[in-house]
Amino acid sequence: MKRENVTHLLATDLDGTLVGEKELTSLLFDYYKERPYNVQLVYVTGRHYASTMELIKEEELPMPSILISDVGTEMYDLNDPELHERWKKTLEEKWNPADISRIVQSCSGLTPQSIPSVHRLSYFAESDEAVEEVKQKLSGSSVPHKLIFSSGRDVDILPPNAGKGEALSFLLREKGWEKANVLVAGDSGNDRDMITLGYPAVVVGNCQKELKQLPDHPMIFRAQKHCAGGIHEAWEHFFEKTPVKNSI
Ligand code: GLC
Ligand code: MG
Repeated sequence: MKRENVTHLLATDLDGTLVGEKELTSLLFDYYKERPYNVQLVYVTGRHYASTMELIKEEELPMPSILISDVGTEMYDLNDPELHERWKKTLEEKWNPADISRIVQSCSGLTPQSIPSVHRLSYFAESDEAVEEVKQKLSGSSVPHKLIFSSGRDVDILPPNAGKGEALSFLLREKGWEKANVLVAGDSGNDRDMITLGYPAVVVGNCQKELKQLPDHPMIFRAQKHCAGGIHEAWEHFFEKTPVKNSI
């Protein structure tokens, strides 16, 4: 996809957002083909790289310009391999996985996810109480981190300056795309920090309860439709019916 003069950009989560209802995903891409402008695609997912590539293949999704994977801890641009290195450098300044892992092991109710990721520690939580205990122990320590709880099950512990929101801001700055018409889309807790960046954003109709609790904001559109249908609805709302300026 062309990268000069990027005017429109979709930064979307995959599972439960772009992906979930196959027919709606196809309809969204058909709709984009009919637009008089190109829509730059950025996938922002909790999955790791290999798992994302599998999903792209299985669901026959278009390849994105940029892939932000691992809950905003990894970033891939085939045309600019250095981007990943620059992002990694900022994360590694404050990343002590051994200390974090030791603290988590002293708590009960969390099982490590088996993933190849190096800039996050992820777990499955047995209960909300188990998450509370880890949260408290970590915040009582001096170990820098960011803890994200999603879908009542997934706990991701990241470097403090990582996450989907930080990663997307870094990307838009690096590429000079901040002034484009950006739509951010998500369905669960790990999407919260990118949804609240100040760009037009959509919480899809099938969202998890943690996103239902987000305070109302003019830049956050709550779609009726599920998954890609919600993205379509929000795209019309922000960029076709009543064009808006993002608040960045
Ligand atoms: C995806 C990832 C998982 C992560 C979760 C929440 O399901 O596969 O590793 O914990 O998203 O971010
Ligand atoms: Mg999701």
